Amino acid sequence: MPIKPVKKALFPVAGLGTRFLPATKALPKEMLPVVDKPLIQYALEEARDAGIEQFIFVTGRGKGAMEDHFDHAVELELALTERGKDDDLKIVLDCSPPPGQLTYVRQQQPLGLGHAVWCGKNYIGDEPFAVLSADDVILANPGCLKQMIETYSEVGGNVVAVEEVPREQTNRYGVLDIESDDGKLARAKGLVEKPDPAVAPSTLSIIGRYILQPQVMNHLDKHEKGAGGEIQLTDAMAATIGEIDFHGMRFDGKRFDCGTKHGFIEANIAFALSRDDMRDSVSEILKEYT
Ligand code: G1P
Repeated sequence: MPIKPVKKALFPVAGLGTRFLPATKALPKEMLPVVDKPLIQYALEEARDAGIEQFIFVTGRGKGAMEDHFDHAVELELALTERGKDDDLKIVLDCSPPPGQLTYVRQQQPLGLGHAVWCGKNYIGDEPFAVLSADDVILANPGCLKQMIETYSEVGGNVVAVEEVPREQTNRYGVLDIESDDGKLARAKGLVEKPDPAVAPSTLSIIGRYILQPQVMNHLDKHEKGAGGEIQLTDAMAATIGEIDFHGMRFDGKRFDCGTKHGFIEANIAFALSRDDMRDSVSEILKEYT
């Protein structure tokens, strides 16, 4: 079967972000900035740089700031133009994808990641698609999704980004039951969502980047509940194994779990240190506190 290119990406952005209260009381957690850019913009740019042309946000109540962020801000653009602030204007204009590329659909109930993905079904249609979690911010060049698309163009099927995690943390992730592994690419014969460390089939864990075939939606159609009583994407992917190849790809780069406070702070430090305009001053600050 020919390997179809991936042109659509889905972003599950309906979560409440309770770990960051009170910051996320009125602000979508995806709008929290790492240095000066919202988490969701890192994810969208990673997708755009990987060749994605259609962006589907599965959103919820109180997430309007994200829609505004990716829209034109006419007054701001005029003010920056009048003041000759061309660099700032470019930053603002670069936020908006071309007209017609961004779609919003609401997940009306928090029934799990699988349900969020299923809510985008009509926009995905019969095409492969990527899923990106804004919680996982990845410092990598080329970006993680671009690396995955390269691998996907060779192996096809379902491809997810994976990382080894300490065994005591397997209950936070979807974990691969490995059939074969060449050190870069692991072929899975099964998947388990958030297994207890004592019974986890491996410590190779799924992080928030997926390339999926549309057949995954057929399994999500069933709305079966899995771990934690939620409709799990992991279970739907697992159900396609046998029918569709499943690979976990280790990527080059560093992932920060910005769904946790520690990961979020670490991301801010790492991204600041990666920038020429901030490295020296931030290093000085860090010396003061260590
Ligand atoms: C979700 C998935 C899990 C995956 C993780 C990666 O869990 O269900 O399989 O490993 O994302 O970030 P969540 O973090 O939403 O609990």
